[in-house]
Amino acid sequence: MNLKNCYNFEDFRKLAKKKLPSPIFHYIDGGADDEITLRRNTQSFDECDLVPNVLASVGKPDLSTTVFGKKIDMPIFLSPTAMQRLYHHEGDKASAKAAEKFGTFYSMSTMANNTIEEISKISNGPKLFQLYIHKDQSITDDLIERCRVSGFDGMCLTVDTLVAGNREKDHRTGFTTPPKLTLESFMSFVTHPLWLFNYLTHAKFELANVSKKTDKGTNIAKSVIEYINEQYDPAMNWKDAEYCVKKWNGPFALKGIMSIDDAKRAIDIGCTAIMISNHGGRQLDGSRSPFDQVKAISDAVGDKLEIILDGGIKRGTHVLKALAAGATACSFGRMFLFALSAGGQKGVEQVLQNMHNEINRDMILMGCKSIKELNNSKLIYRK
Ligand code: LAC
Repeated sequence: MNLKNCYNFEDFRKLAKKKLPSPIFHYIDGGADDEITLRRNTQSFDECDLVPNVLASVGKPDLSTTVFGKKIDMPIFLSPTAMQRLYHHEGDKASAKAAEKFGTFYSMSTMANNTIEEISKISNGPKLFQLYIHKDQSITDDLIERCRVSGFDGMCLTVDTLVAGNREKDHRTGFTTPPKLTLESFMSFVTHPLWLFNYLTHAKFELANVSKKTDKGTNIAKSVIEYINEQYDPAMNWKDAEYCVKKWNGPFALKGIMSIDDAKRAIDIGCTAIMISNHGGRQLDGSRSPFDQVKAISDAVGDKLEIILDGGIKRGTHVLKALAAGATACSFGRMFLFALSAGGQKGVEQVLQNMHNEINRDMILMGCKSIKELNNSKLIYRK
């Protein structure tokens, strides 16, 4: 199996599983508790059907949409995801360059291994930063200021990870950042010599944007669960979020909104967007899926906010369903991380190309010339 034969999520997942030591593969793959929400995020797309209108002389459909003040060429972008250097030695540089090629957003996590400045130097494409509020306020202020200086287009604040979800796979594999050789992980690292070689011979692993302020997670190996619980503020509230919105003073989303009430409050504090998300089923297991909430939230506030559906996307038709239900755009994490693990920048390009092909084909089959034509009338929910 190689990249060229990767047609879908499962193909990329299988190839990533081959290439990565198991603690790292399972860190991407896993969800919280019993992974009910993780599964539900994708299953929920199957409970409604697209209704095409034929003979619509579509030709070449326009796949563009506008989010965070930027027109993007396709209605899906890369979700912010932590520590991409673990998956491939090219790290965030690979995903930023691939996203730029496809005219869509690359997103950087606070827990990235490349700096804000490094990425802004290598990519002119649209860039979103994902903020976590640290207990140490100076870290948050510093990140916002640096993104402004470096020309990031938008900012999102994670509101669903005030404590870490219970990811039992990480407990079992002993996953830490930076990776630590333990008795459990030893075999898995030595049986992936290419990964090990690349890991050891490229830039040193660090949480590059915060390592000057804290050496936890850079020089002191920590489980991600410990790191989140130590560094992030579980008492964070709407005032804190409003502080960040005002400080950024540009396109801003709350990431992890699930209720209509919270979507309305996001408008009140000045947000321009929300990301409907349960953090890929990695936080509150039993949470409703983003797709199950998108229509109700869009009916309530869709004219006042951009709505990004984040979670469960594996197919172009999932994107079409999300847009028909009222989303402005979608974002995805796991699938592109598997592709990154499988082939670096080429892998991410391949997954974006596949998605582009699927969305383009599906739009023609739906009889839609532009994504504005995807509305509630194109979707029927089964009883
Ligand atoms: C995770 C956090 C770090 O899902 O975003 O692991």
